[in-house]
Amino acid sequence: MTSNTQWWQKGIIYQVYPRSYQDSNGDGIGDLPGITQRLDYIKSLNVEALWISPIYPSPMHDFGYDVADYVGIHPMFGTMADFDHLLGEAHARGLKVLLDLVPNHTSDEHAWFIESRRSRDNPKRDWYIWRDPAPDGGPPNNWLSFFGGPAWTFDEKTGQYYMHQFVKQQPELNYRNPAVMDALLGSMRFWLDKGVDGFRVDVLWLMLKDDQFRDNPPNPDWDGVVPIGSLLQTYTADVPGIHDIVRQMRQVLDSYEERMMVGEIYMEIEKLVTYYGEHLDECHLPFNFHLISSRWEAPIIRQLIETYEANLTGGRWPNWVLGNHDQHRVATRIGVHQARVANMMLLTLRGTPTCYYGDELGMEDVPIPLELLQDPAALNQPEIAHIVGRDPERTPMQWDDSPNAGFAAEGVQTWLPLAADYQTRNVAKQNADPTSMLNFYRVLTALRNAEPALHAGDYATVMTSHNDVLAYRRSAPDGNNFVIVLNFSDNDLTLDLSQVASTATIAVATDMERAGTVDLSQLALHGNEGLVLRL
Ligand code: GLC
Repeated sequence: MTSNTQWWQKGIIYQVYPRSYQDSNGDGIGDLPGITQRLDYIKSLNVEALWISPIYPSPMHDFGYDVADYVGIHPMFGTMADFDHLLGEAHARGLKVLLDLVPNHTSDEHAWFIESRRSRDNPKRDWYIWRDPAPDGGPPNNWLSFFGGPAWTFDEKTGQYYMHQFVKQQPELNYRNPAVMDALLGSMRFWLDKGVDGFRVDVLWLMLKDDQFRDNPPNPDWDGVVPIGSLLQTYTADVPGIHDIVRQMRQVLDSYEERMMVGEIYMEIEKLVTYYGEHLDECHLPFNFHLISSRWEAPIIRQLIETYEANLTGGRWPNWVLGNHDQHRVATRIGVHQARVANMMLLTLRGTPTCYYGDELGMEDVPIPLELLQDPAALNQPEIAHIVGRDPERTPMQWDDSPNAGFAAEGVQTWLPLAADYQTRNVAKQNADPTSMLNFYRVLTALRNAEPALHAGDYATVMTSHNDVLAYRRSAPDGNNFVIVLNFSDNDLTLDLSQVASTATIAVATDMERAGTVDLSQLALHGNEGLVLRL
């Protein structure tokens, strides 16, 4: 396994949300030269690749996920020369660069949509999804937007509705039209020709819709809170034909050396894994978000890992995610202590890990007062902003304790407020503290990279008599084996793991202090403690 492991299998993907990483020009918004300045830091995390959320020209109704030009750079982020420089500097450090590809929809300011909405007989009309009103003049069917309200907006001038599952400034492209597919593949080639190493593909599983535009059925399990949850996405997600689209994208990637794509897909595991393709000819990695959606309890996570592993037949390579720019931060969801346990797990499970910027410091969600809300998901649904709002996990990176945390110059108004704890939780402080989350993260990533058992070895659950403990073994053909023992509770406990071996050596402990040899027949674990044990 080890010898032919690809970079995207062995390495760790680090997500940079560009608006919040490093401002270099004093506008309070991060930019490309800012990211370039921080590449040495990224390299110091022992990650393999950075994925940068969208940097294209955009009116920013959805913070860059409303793309007005697939082959340009937003002046707010810099120039194409800045991008080329970043790419060159990243590659010089052995870092790969993934861009965020947003094929499902464009901005309503994209030249294609401006054309499309001009008249019903415009040559680009059919590039988007236009429908006549229902007999009562209302939307053509019951489809909903993820950000509240119907998935349809009426266009006065041409008397039809266009479809959008996000904000109304994000009209959806019609992938039943081959010209649209060609245009997408052309945009991919533009970046691949520049040397970009691949793409994270936005809402990949939503790219095709039902050709009969049938109503989505009601969701019997709806919690009554988030409106989009009231319907099953039967006719708007994972629609037959989608896999042909993914395969065509993959073929473009495969016509270059060593490129990859990771698809954003929120689906149950059995369906998720179909996006590897029957012949491993679709996504290299369909994102596995189940650690985010599952309850943080050892038996539930164990079951999740086993179900996932069982579905990874025929060379499908696993991946795990604890956070991204759409989800509340892991340290907020499960607490700062368990966040160490969770990262120990992420970095020792079988499969490619993804790290969301700042999670390596244990950054938490930052409560955003109503008057400072930016995210359309929150602004359109203010009564549930605390649930659906994504600003809290998008706040500026905490570099040091200077005003504006080293993210922006002193006196600059940052686009989102800084975390209240930035003077104590920041890169500079944590660099200096050998037991910090950051150094914990680095020790784990270095160990993972160095040990075939951890980046390429097999996974096996180790059963214990404690419900709060998750334990597993990672083993490599070279005989170097590890057992990882994670206490999901805050209770101290003692375990008998003598079925594995009589003793082991602590390779990493969550407190960064515990060391030495342990007796596995009576292994004491503190509350919230995790250990990577070398057998
Ligand atoms: C994806 C992105 C999210 C965005 C949405 C629409 O889910 O991750 O941030 O709002 O797609 O593009």
